[in-house]
Amino acid sequence: MSDSSRGSAKANAKTKISFRLNGKSVTVESYPMDRLLDVLRVELGLTGTKEGCGEGECGSCSVLMNGMLVNSCLVPVLQARDADILTIEGLAADGRLQRVQQAFLDCGGAQCGICTPGMILAAHHLLSKNPQPTMEQIRDGLAGNLCRCTGYMQIFEAVEEAARREGEKERQHEGTPR
Ligand code: FES
Ligand code: FES
Repeated sequence: MSDSSRGSAKANAKTKISFRLNGKSVTVESYPMDRLLDVLRVELGLTGTKEGCGEGECGSCSVLMNGMLVNSCLVPVLQARDADILTIEGLAADGRLQRVQQAFLDCGGAQCGICTPGMILAAHHLLSKNPQPTMEQIRDGLAGNLCRCTGYMQIFEAVEEAARREGEKERQHEGTPR
């Protein structure tokens, strides 16, 4: 066997890859270049992460990797080794929707639902960095996520509403009069 074919045989071998997924340690046995999207959906059964374009254009497959928003259709699973991955399944806690999820529900931010998990994670990412964004910042923050159904307005309003509710909660917590 030549050196190059030995190298490619190695690249084509399955390997154990461990990472933290939604706060728990997981280990998968995958080909290093398998897409993180497929590993999440097929091997780990977390089908909340959706595939739209499969080419890094639509954001439907967005997850957070070490706090960064990434398109999981473009991430080889090997890159996820030892990383912290958050998918849509990890957002709700104790059976209660997380605030962005609740706002999407209340504002009609989801229709067919293909873009929704990625949109919600992108919104969550935006609000974690900028808790009170302007409408323009919301548009910018979600610019990498495409939606064919809603015309975007309900989505932007849902993010605005999630920010407003959080601001209100903060004020109540601090005892500041409205
Ligand atoms: Fe990954 Fe479209 S499916 S960006
Ligand atoms: Fe259908 Fe956004 S709700 S693509």
